[in-house]
Amino acid sequence: MITGSNLELRAGSRILLADTTLRIQQGDRIGLVGRNGAGKTTTLKVLAGEGEPYTGEVRHGSDLGYLPQDPREGDLSVSAKDRVLSARGLDVLVRDMEKAQTAMSELVDDAARDKAINRYGRLEERFSSLGGYAAESEAARICANLGLADRVLAQPMGTLSGGQRRRVELARILFAASEAGAGGKSDTILLLDEPTNHLDADSITWLRGFLKAHEGGLVVISHDVELLGEVVNKVWFLDATRGELDHYNMSWQRYLDARATDEKRRRRERANAEKKASALHQQAAKLGAKATKAVAAKNMARRADQMLADLDDTRQADRVAKIKFPAPAPCGKTPLTAEGLSKSYGSLEIFTGVDLAIDRGSKVVVLGLNGAGKTTLLRLLGGMEPADTGGIVPGHGLRLGYYAQEHETLDHDATVWDNIRHLSPDTGAQELRNLLGSFLFTGEQLSQPAGTLSGGEKTRLALASLVSSAANVLLLDEPTNNLDPASREQVLDALHSFDGAVVLVTHDPGAVEALEPERVILLPDGTEDHWSAEYLDLVQLA
Ligand SMILES: Nc1ncnc2c1ncn2[C@@H]1O[C@H](COP(=O)(O)OP(=O)(O)OP(=O)(O)O)[C@@H](O)[C@H]1O
Ligand SMILES: [Mg+2]
Repeated sequence: MITGSNLELRAGSRILLADTTLRIQQGDRIGLVGRNGAGKTTTLKVLAGEGEPYTGEVRHGSDLGYLPQDPREGDLSVSAKDRVLSARGLDVLVRDMEKAQTAMSELVDDAARDKAINRYGRLEERFSSLGGYAAESEAARICANLGLADRVLAQPMGTLSGGQRRRVELARILFAASEAGAGGKSDTILLLDEPTNHLDADSITWLRGFLKAHEGGLVVISHDVELLGEVVNKVWFLDATRGELDHYNMSWQRYLDARATDEKRRRRERANAEKKASALHQQAAKLGAKATKAVAAKNMARRADQMLADLDDTRQADRVAKIKFPAPAPCGKTPLTAEGLSKSYGSLEIFTGVDLAIDRGSKVVVLGLNGAGKTTLLRLLGGMEPADTGGIVPGHGLRLGYYAQEHETLDHDATVWDNIRHLSPDTGAQELRNLLGSFLFTGEQLSQPAGTLSGGEKTRLALASLVSSAANVLLLDEPTNNLDPASREQVLDALHSFDGAVVLVTHDPGAVEALEPERVILLPDGTEDHWSAEYLDLVQLA
């Protein structure tokens, strides 16, 4: 059990959550939802014991597995496999066994080899008695289901992409919480912050099944309504405008119905009260005209105001960013050409000989399975990384806008304001201020370091800086990750009406539909094809 008592949570001077008690018990599968920036990540971090509440305290009565929204840093020299196995303390044993095994096969001196054999035997016995074999195969099964290939598992954490690192962390947590093999603790409470962000459709389906069967307690933050619908039996709705968290002890579908009913009731009550109050005010105005009735009139007016104040706060309508990508700067017929691009990491060849030409205003989707090199291709096109062979030929008037999946275009130590100034030095200050406002940044947030923004806010800032640049070729890597549904709709609308060229990488079929692409590039072969609806299935698989 985890209990957070009398919690108050703040971000700067803003109160995110006031005087709230939260409890997570065995069998709870809680969906924590709310708008971008509402404080979901902050709440989970505090429950995990990795953040301090402003007031109140958190108690842990059982083991927990916490997946933060941003990849952890930690020791980057350990291999991904060791990282996963370390969850049950098996990493050291497996590594020592591997060392002894190498020694057995390589040593020529008989005495030394015998020693290695003995050593291996002892280690193996211990491993086996700890249930290591079953545990190791369980770890392998979980990794495979999360799309982590063996070659990735052999790599040191430091060489993995942010998305791969998060998947390793997720595998580690689920491994610790899974029953199969010795050492797992199925009463572990899982605290997962947007676990599906870097997963493909197969992995998401598998994860849903895993979470649905998990009995130890779970809080999951997700914008994936299918996952919520299938997995959760309780909903916590965090409302930033009121600083309150509403508990709904029911399934996702019942929660949606209940909220709709709730909102209807509040609207009706407000309308009624407003009608009565306005009648009272009219009366008061009439009375007030006579000097002798002035006091009675004032009382009447006060009563009317009280009536309105007593109402439940009607929820402020969800504010949404009004986003429009700018008119692209003029350019030649083919602003961007790439010839014979190849890229390898060490001995691992990602792709070879990819040619492509991006015409003015053309819309292209890049498809390929996990690890096929979609992000790498965008990084080469954006000049973030050199190709091994081949090169990029900028056309006349090319202006690139690059949206990075991991927000690495943002300077995390600099403020929101300095970030956008730096990325668009030619745009006037007032124009930039208006732009940030339309992306829902408040005046106070302009001086906040970008690293402290919520996931969705970082996405909004990165998109805002694209918008300020009048780019005519946008390279977009998973632009809808992290966004709440209302903000996602806005981004998709903006994408839909953009006149410039777009090269899009995404797992989100809605994003592809909004783009209406003409062409698709299939990685790792670099084959080009006309877009057709059959490719839509592949988008989710990719
Ligand atoms: N040091 C800080 N100063 C001011 N505001 C901060 C600071 N750190 C965080 N915040 C703000 O706290 C709010 C809550 O952030 P949090 O990451 O908890 O949101 P979230 O609900 O998880 O959002 P998302 O859905 O985008 O992930 C955000 O508006 C964020 O900008
Ligand atoms: Mg968050």
